[in-house]
Amino acid sequence: MILKDDIGASLDKSFDCLPEDAACGQPVFRGKVRDVVMGQDCLLLVASDRISAFDRILSTVPFKGEVLSRISAWWFARCADIVANHVLPGGAPQELGGTGRATLVRRAKMLPVEVVVRGYLAGSAWRDYEQGRAVSGIRLPEGLSRNEKFPVPLITPSTKADSGHDRPVSRDEIIREGLVEEGPWTEIESAALALFRRGQELAAKAGLLLVDTKYEFGTIGGSLVLADELHSPDSSRYWWWDSYETRFQSDDPQRELDKEPFRRWLLDHGFGGDGDAPSIPDDVRIETAWRYIQAYEAITGEIFEPLSSDPQSENAALARIVAERLR
Ligand SMILES: Nc1ncnc2c1ncn2[C@@H]1O[C@H](COP(=O)(O)OP(=O)(O)O)[C@@H](O)[C@H]1O
Ligand SMILES: [Mg+2]
Repeated sequence: MILKDDIGASLDKSFDCLPEDAACGQPVFRGKVRDVVMGQDCLLLVASDRISAFDRILSTVPFKGEVLSRISAWWFARCADIVANHVLPGGAPQELGGTGRATLVRRAKMLPVEVVVRGYLAGSAWRDYEQGRAVSGIRLPEGLSRNEKFPVPLITPSTKADSGHDRPVSRDEIIREGLVEEGPWTEIESAALALFRRGQELAAKAGLLLVDTKYEFGTIGGSLVLADELHSPDSSRYWWWDSYETRFQSDDPQRELDKEPFRRWLLDHGFGGDGDAPSIPDDVRIETAWRYIQAYEAITGEIFEPLSSDPQSENAALARIVAERLR
């Protein structure tokens, strides 16, 4: 079990990035948060401890990569009956040995659309609505309040931009621009809504509300697969269920499980995504790590016991996994 007071000692053991030699000569794609070792048919997704906000990498947070990978794995195992997913048998982080941050997956042809599902009028959707704009092409009725629950969840897709910020797109634009064909898009919509329903059900058992999330789908041999991460605090917003109604009635901010406090610290220090980012003090990194660990424990109902020790031994484990399993 990790105590908050112990996290400081782990700050300099954060996993910043996967070194070249751990990839054993295989090509590495470096995403904002994950380093992806590319094989022919499979990938090793290595979640680093990097933290991004407003689409910029700002610091590292100990245990974050492992927490995220293992929360996703928890959800993939509980949603596999809804739609096929990319995790290979024995490929979940706790099954690979010597690491907790990596996932061995089937390589998919990714669709260029991020499938955002929202259960509540929150975040950027609220900001758009407040300013009288449609939300991904959807005109919402007048008179809604901040953080109000939608009668049924809404899909508000955005394009997956290669660089810079994502662009909201409507269902019509997705089909008209040929981003995804109508048949597969309809299949994606029903899979996304079913996943979200399962997410809300299991979150409720943990005393949480799954507020919104983002899915990424791909195809393998023409069939649809759920890829990337699933209901992790990086791709999702969670609120605590018990305080929702009173805070909603008084229009107070909701108690959040995710990295919103980190974003708020940045905004309070004058950073909203443009210009030079402030350097993140240790106490903010520790508080954020603590949040992620609590998120793991709340969602899974299990105590977080890290599987990774330090970057050196973890890199050795990752190199072994690449050599043995990634072809
Ligand atoms: N099964 C998969 N096949 C191919 N690509 C995948 C798969 N799962 C996830 N990806 C991609 O791997 C990358 C993960 O790295 P990430 O740090 O999330 O990058 P990004 O900055 O693009 O969000 C993403 O581009 C994601 O779309
Ligand atoms: Mg991503």
